[in-house]
Amino acid sequence: MKISIIGTGYVGLVTGVCLASKGHDVICVDQKQEVIDKINNLITPIYESGLEELMIKVIKTGKLVATTDLKSSVMNSEISIIAVGTPFGNDKIDLRHIEKSAWEIGSILMDKEHYHVVCVKSTVIPTTTDTLVKNVLESASGKKAGDFGLTMNPEFLREGKAVEDFMYPDRIVIGAYDNRSFETMKHVYEGFFDAPIINVNLRTAEMIKYTANALLATLISFANEIGSICEKTKDIDVKEVMESVTLDKRFNPRINNQLVNPEMINYLKAGCGFGGSCFPKDVKALISYSKWAGYVPQIIDATIRVNKEQPLKMINRLEEILRTLKGKKVAILGLAFKPDTDDVRESPSIAIINSLLEKGALVYGIDPIANQNMQKIIPEDRKSVWYSTDYKEALKDADAAILVTSWAEFIDIPTQDFSQLMKTLVVVDGRRVLNKKGLEDVGVMYIGVGLS
Ligand code: UDX
Repeated sequence: MKISIIGTGYVGLVTGVCLASKGHDVICVDQKQEVIDKINNLITPIYESGLEELMIKVIKTGKLVATTDLKSSVMNSEISIIAVGTPFGNDKIDLRHIEKSAWEIGSILMDKEHYHVVCVKSTVIPTTTDTLVKNVLESASGKKAGDFGLTMNPEFLREGKAVEDFMYPDRIVIGAYDNRSFETMKHVYEGFFDAPIINVNLRTAEMIKYTANALLATLISFANEIGSICEKTKDIDVKEVMESVTLDKRFNPRINNQLVNPEMINYLKAGCGFGGSCFPKDVKALISYSKWAGYVPQIIDATIRVNKEQPLKMINRLEEILRTLKGKKVAILGLAFKPDTDDVRESPSIAIINSLLEKGALVYGIDPIANQNMQKIIPEDRKSVWYSTDYKEALKDADAAILVTSWAEFIDIPTQDFSQLMKTLVVVDGRRVLNKKGLEDVGVMYIGVGLS
């Protein structure tokens, strides 16, 4: 099929490259010339494992082209997928980019004779596609929905695994305005093995996406809340508690006497909180939508509140031990919101560093690939903030270390390096991945989330 994709950010580019690799003719459109130039020069504007290789391949075979020319892209395709950003701002989702894209596509559809399907892939609150997007498309095109197709097709892509998640989806959700829209959209996903295609209405598709993210985020906050209770009680370790709870076969079944270990149980581990470009933004947007729709949410509201407290609890515990953080050098092991990504958006490390700086501490952050992105949020001044990729520099003469991101590099740090390099031997394990006994054996005071 001929597909145009509006927005070459994280979702749009992954979608474009993967669909092109499945044999579709894809046109990626973005208003930013520099982004289009990068793609045409075979450089991905974002870092995502496996994306660049695949992008180069599909560009070289002519299956993917990139342009700023929206008009020719819509005219020369059968489907336009909107993948523009939907940030959270002023207490609700910001749909300006969606509205603008819908208006521009609609204006082009006015002159288009052939049937064309508009698909919203961006995460949008329920009713956005069947009200705002539909109305704008109708006004701009002078046509009625039905004359053009309308679908909502959410993505479920994890950063770092986006290409794999796209190519091997668990399910393909297609919210459709009418049957013709659905049937056309279905062809996009032919050849995606046996992933079930879920045919729902537009607003249900929107809700599925929010529910999926809100559930996973809530699991994390639940585990963190249990961890907080454990912290207040001597000799209970949340790690032992949750490991045992998740051995229930309803969470972790056995097949041929082997535990399946579904990835979902990893979201039931206590830590210093969730971050990233999706969970915080999407849960907040769902809360705001829910209130607007007439229901004041309880659980997901607490999910956000627990998550906000979680990073700061690391600092409180450290302060109790060191008495004051003023002038103390604190090594932050990990800046990215999770391992294997350079993304620091909403990372717990931001709240941790800001809190340390407020208390007069000297912060030495290390991360294998996220330093540059962190520089844009909390710049290095070499007076109170330093960044490096070398953990030895960070640990040298440190008064404490806080592990924020469970990068393999940090899990592998020999325990003697902590004891030999640090000035005061205090380590806060914000992900419960370090070797507690090994650290204690070399004289380090180990403080773990969910452990008193
Ligand atoms: C998430 C959803 O998983 C994805 O389906 C959706 O489309 C976008 O949002 P992503 O933001 O890449 O993807 O992050 P994910 O890997 O799910 O991690 C989110 C948060 O959960 C992170 O803060 C991470 O630290 C935490 N997490 C993740 C865990 O606590 N345990 C894990 O096993 C994985």
